[in-house]
Amino acid sequence: MDPRENVIQAWYMDDSDEDQRLPHHRDPKEFVSLDKLTELGVLSWCLDADKYETDEELKKIREKRGYSYMDICEVCPEKLPNYEAKIKNFFEEHLHTDEEIRYCVEGSGYFDMRDENDHWIRVAMKKGGMIVLPAGIYHRFTLDTDNYIKAMRLFVGEPVWTPYNRPHDDLPARKEYIDAFVKKEVANQAVEAL
Ligand code: LAC
Ligand code: NI
Repeated sequence: MDPRENVIQAWYMDDSDEDQRLPHHRDPKEFVSLDKLTELGVLSWCLDADKYETDEELKKIREKRGYSYMDICEVCPEKLPNYEAKIKNFFEEHLHTDEEIRYCVEGSGYFDMRDENDHWIRVAMKKGGMIVLPAGIYHRFTLDTDNYIKAMRLFVGEPVWTPYNRPHDDLPARKEYIDAFVKKEVANQAVEAL
């Protein structure tokens, strides 16, 4: 088994308006493979979060991908200034002009992202899971019912966290994302349907 499956699970979401922190599985459940996430440009790793401060494997990933910047962000009322407003903003559908790189070193949370047909995929991250959302993908974040995550944020150079709330379809990053990933997925689907 792929070790990433212990810390990263993905599924298609239902359309109910219930509490965002609930799993929101469809009935019956529809899981999404890590390969499918790769096709959407989403990369992932399973790392040993107990040694994130000294981990050689993490160091190699950072060197290879140029992730020079790093900080730690804890999402809970005591540690995150403006907690309620941030929680609300995290869950607004948005994109960034750069990758969003998050490594869950404690706790858990849900990263939701749109597939090529604009359906929500929920990616559940646990301790040890690291994920890269490509520039231009529409996404959002929420805590789950355990209500706590401690995440490492990585970035190439000086970090830019600006969220562009949907719709922002004219940004070059959005167009590039569609050209690189969405068009291919839609074309693959058309071939599979023949
Ligand atoms: C971010 C997550 C919440 O932009 O998507 O920080
Ligand atoms: Ni984001």
